[in-house]
Amino acid sequence: MTTQLIDSFNRRIDYVRISVTDRCDLRCNYCMPKGFTDYEEPKDWLTFDEIERVVKAFTALGVENIRLTGGEPLLRKDLPVLVSRLSQVDGIDDISLSTNATQLEKHAVALKTAGLNRLNVSMDSVDPKRFHELCGRDALDDVLKGLKAAKEANLNPIKINSVYLHDTPDHEVDALVEFCIENHFVLRLIEAMPMGDTGRAAGKSNLQKTKLRLQSQYGLTETIERGPGPAKYLVSGDGQFKIGFITPMSQHFCESCNRVRLSVDGTLYLCLGQNDRFELRPLLRSGASQTELIEAIQDAIKMKPERHEFNESPKKIIRIMARTGG
Ligand code: 5AD
Ligand code: SF4
Repeated sequence: MTTQLIDSFNRRIDYVRISVTDRCDLRCNYCMPKGFTDYEEPKDWLTFDEIERVVKAFTALGVENIRLTGGEPLLRKDLPVLVSRLSQVDGIDDISLSTNATQLEKHAVALKTAGLNRLNVSMDSVDPKRFHELCGRDALDDVLKGLKAAKEANLNPIKINSVYLHDTPDHEVDALVEFCIENHFVLRLIEAMPMGDTGRAAGKSNLQKTKLRLQSQYGLTETIERGPGPAKYLVSGDGQFKIGFITPMSQHFCESCNRVRLSVDGTLYLCLGQNDRFELRPLLRSGASQTELIEAIQDAIKMKPERHEFNESPKKIIRIMARTGG
């Protein structure tokens, strides 16, 4: 039997989110501050070789699923090359990507060819004016072109992730639901988390009422099936439409957390809502062996905290999501 990664709370860690850049071409209000330029230096970015080494260490510990994230991952040069390299690593079962899709049109086919399976697209509105207000640029058209290209490249399933703010109007949510029904996309609504001043400025997000409203308005039922992630899903009678609710604020799901995050500078973040971390870059750059790397990861996982404290200590996390990897 292969070794598994089990933390101190008996949770199995089998999923790693890898941020390939902390840069982004959008400025979503709840994420990057306007004028933000405090990025990591290119010399500190893990190279593709280093990322591959870390992934191999994780697969030796039973991790089968990875997701590439950012900032905006498609800003990292040659991302499809990385996808192709990682998809060939023994033990990797599934690679997915979280993108804002502004640059997806030109990369969709290459990503699919490289071995990408699943795609999550962050998109907060289907209204061009609101998209601009929330994300700082008139980019909805590019996102829609990216989605079309992804569908044509047979990337499947495509999930749309939308951050739900305390003041998101019902008609905005309904427009997203209808867009996803029409296009056969899975929709996931995510409560905004108090990460950094921008995240805190987004206010207290709670999806519970919206969940009940959508359930009755669209005749949806709860699924018993629990995916590997934190979303709880509702499904339409004909099974054609699925909507997930990710509720870190109103109903946390830390007891079933299965993941850690690697940032672009090689920091392993053990929890989105805590500061516990372990720096892998110094090890990678000081000639550590693969066995030493694997042992370091095993030790780091023992420090994974039990849960986030976004409600009890909302000021704790000063880093924005783009730094940790969304
Ligand atoms: N709360 C919740 N989600 C956030 N994201 C960025 N900042 C926050 C926040 N404070 C999401 C983005 C995207 C992914 C990168 O993280 O919308 O889906
Ligand atoms: Fe960029 Fe995503 Fe942050 Fe928006 S939420 S600014 S798309 S990293």
